[in-house]
Amino acid sequence: MSEKTNDTMLTVDNLSKNFVKKLDLAGKIAQKLGSNIREEVVHAVDGVSLAIPKGSVVGLVGESGCGKSTLGRMIAGILRPTGGDITYKGVSITKMSGDEAARAALQIQMIFQDPFASLNPRMRVIDIIGEAPLTHGFTTAAEKDSYVCDVMKRVGLDPEYRRRYPHQFSGGQRQRIGIARALAVNPEFLVCDEAIAALDVSIQAQVINLFMDLREDLDLTYLFISHDLSVVKHISDRIVIMYLGRIVEISPTDELYADPNHPYTQALLNEVPQLEHRGRDYKPVEGEIPSPLDPPSGCHFHPRCPHATDRCATERPELREIAPTRWSACHLNDEA
Ligand SMILES: Nc1ncnc2c1ncn2[C@@H]1O[C@H](COP(=O)(O)OP(=O)(O)O)[C@@H](O)[C@H]1O
Ligand code: SF4
Ligand SMILES: [Mg+2]
Repeated sequence: MSEKTNDTMLTVDNLSKNFVKKLDLAGKIAQKLGSNIREEVVHAVDGVSLAIPKGSVVGLVGESGCGKSTLGRMIAGILRPTGGDITYKGVSITKMSGDEAARAALQIQMIFQDPFASLNPRMRVIDIIGEAPLTHGFTTAAEKDSYVCDVMKRVGLDPEYRRRYPHQFSGGQRQRIGIARALAVNPEFLVCDEAIAALDVSIQAQVINLFMDLREDLDLTYLFISHDLSVVKHISDRIVIMYLGRIVEISPTDELYADPNHPYTQALLNEVPQLEHRGRDYKPVEGEIPSPLDPPSGCHFHPRCPHATDRCATERPELREIAPTRWSACHLNDEA
């Protein structure tokens, strides 16, 4: 568990999401004929708990498929959890309904990896950005034009171009359109899911700088998802490391890099290039990532862990506090 304090903005408690892979026709027939074939269940997020302080930037890191996007989507209200709870400013989002749920959904906005896929190609930028604030009463039809111009300026887009379509912009500008669309409903919390991963390396730093300027100007809180530790290092106050649906370590950024506790974090850090080299698609840890359809017993990391013992193969290590503001899920901490 991670700590909750008075300035906690968002809390995730024992959150889970399973995806059930339905049987195809051949599978159903085989089942009827007595085969023990069953529907497969992916435990994409498996009992995750964390707390995000107001005004902080929390980096969420892990290899592809470990459940980062699924967690981000549940927090942004796009996916319903299978179990557990999400609390936003003291109120359970998972139990909200009606106006209250709609308000919370606006306050937590998500920025996606591929701005092109998430922008309607047939809509002009003025409508992409202006649609939601008009629907939700942040502006009026008469004032929409100037409202959109203001938001565009805020993200470094020239309002002159507001009648253009997404394909008439560069990748970096399209991501700014996506950011403008999110900001247009005055959110307090942004979930950025690999938000710079699809951009040219030269543009990545500009968009990161924009996120950090917006944080200052608008008092935003961020969950910044990336598969790349070098991306989150410079912007995060604390870092959450996920492995196969579970959190393995939470730590203030400086301490995580100086003294990583969990063997998985240590392995990830060994692979971070010494020189600044953003955009590298690094394959971190030795060995294959096991399938989330059939995760290893006990500690999910044990088949790849150089310190694994018999206990690791049978007993799940709980995420527990190892020092003030630091949590790790590894049996080695019991021996310390
Ligand atoms: N809609 C879905 N249906 C079935 N499986 C899914 C779905 N979304 C994600 N998954 C599975 O859940 C696991 C976690 O996926 P995801 O959250 O996208 O990971 P990440 O963002 O860390 O790469 C993966 O095994 C993925 O295949
Ligand atoms: S619990 Fe065991 S297998 Fe898991 S990280 Fe710690 S030492 Fe390695
Ligand atoms: Mg993802």
